[in-house]
Amino acid sequence: MTSYRIALNFEDGVTRFVDCGANEKVLDAAFRSRINLPMDCSDGVCGTCKCQAESGAYDLGDDYIEDALTADEAGQGLVLTCQMVPRSDCVITVPVPSTACKTGTAQFDAQVAGVVPFSDAAYELELDVAQDAPAFLPGQYVNIAVPGSGQHRAYSFSSAPGERRMRFLIKHVPGGLMSTWLQGAASGQPLQLTGPLGSFYLRPVTRPLLLLAGGTGLAPFLSMLEVLARQGVAQPVHMIYGVTRDQDLVLVHRLQDYALRIPGFTFTTCVADPQTTHERQGYVTNHMPAQALHGGNVDVYLCGPPPMVEAVRQHFHAEGIAPVSFHYEKFTPNQPAAA
Ligand SMILES: Cc1cc2nc3c(=O)[nH]c(=O)nc-3n(C[C@H](O)[C@H](O)[C@H](O)COP(=O)(O)OP(=O)(O)OC[C@H]3O[C@@H](n4cnc5c(N)ncnc54)[C@H](O)[C@@H]3O)c2cc1C
Ligand code: FES
Repeated sequence: MTSYRIALNFEDGVTRFVDCGANEKVLDAAFRSRINLPMDCSDGVCGTCKCQAESGAYDLGDDYIEDALTADEAGQGLVLTCQMVPRSDCVITVPVPSTACKTGTAQFDAQVAGVVPFSDAAYELELDVAQDAPAFLPGQYVNIAVPGSGQHRAYSFSSAPGERRMRFLIKHVPGGLMSTWLQGAASGQPLQLTGPLGSFYLRPVTRPLLLLAGGTGLAPFLSMLEVLARQGVAQPVHMIYGVTRDQDLVLVHRLQDYALRIPGFTFTTCVADPQTTHERQGYVTNHMPAQALHGGNVDVYLCGPPPMVEAVRQHFHAEGIAPVSFHYEKFTPNQPAAA
């Protein structure tokens, strides 16, 4: 029997996936999965179940009244989950926290499959999951518990959804809790993950994309690019990948592969260090060609350390650059940096 996968993104960043039958209403499918979405009448009258459909094809239903959902609201992608019947996989934003729906983040177990170091810059952590591959949206992250510490750290998937082997690109922070653990991590070691989380994920591509990555902020873009390579994309996609030092520039060969696999995908790299031998010195904002902005008709995705994200945001503001949409993720550390 056909069923569609519905991602429910809650206000607190938690995402839960539910399977919805071909003629099933989203509210009922969520309820079957023990997720109590906001509702009151379940008859298309009160409007309490109103949510934002971010992507996917669906029927709005015939049995609701204008007071519950106006034509304007429907035109903006608002839906009543007690009436909506999906016709494809969908992403829906729920305007309340997951706890209000008596749900929360899912936990899953994984095992270390390998840790690949890139000089003193970063690691690629590969994990296998025992059960089904966890569902997530390209760009999202999980919390990984650091064994024996009682603490966790957030990491964006650099692999694409549906792969049994998950990958993460992790900056080497000298003396950092996760960095130190990774140095001694052995294949087969168990790890506990919680997620997926986050509102930084690839939306339907309806106009050109500009992807701005700082350091290991490359990770979520690798996941997005794999999805674009698989599903195809008709719009131009340009990436600028900036790092601090020459040795921080990692996995460029993967970007070269994507440039071959994705028609319309181009990228440049740059290094901020004034002593660099790289052909482009400076920050991502120094190497942003006007044509990559498409006169503002562009969706911008930005990910990296907080100072880099803020610098780019300020640059856009100062230059009066107003893209149609602007999504960003800051890799904020758990602990304040040492003085
Ligand atoms: C939503 C989200 C997604 C993230 N995804 C990724 C990802 O995909 N890849 C990734 O590498 N990181 C990512 N991070 C950052 C990550 O969660 C950790 O903060 C980082 O890996 C440091 O962890 P640690 O245990 O090694 O160091 P900690 O033990 O947390 O820190 C040790 C010391 O180093 C400082 N410090 C921490 N990070 C940095 C840094 N980048 N530069 C300089 N000093 C630092 C801390 O303030 C502290 O003083 C993400 C963060 C968030 C919030
Ligand atoms: S619950 Fe009342 S309109 Fe959906």
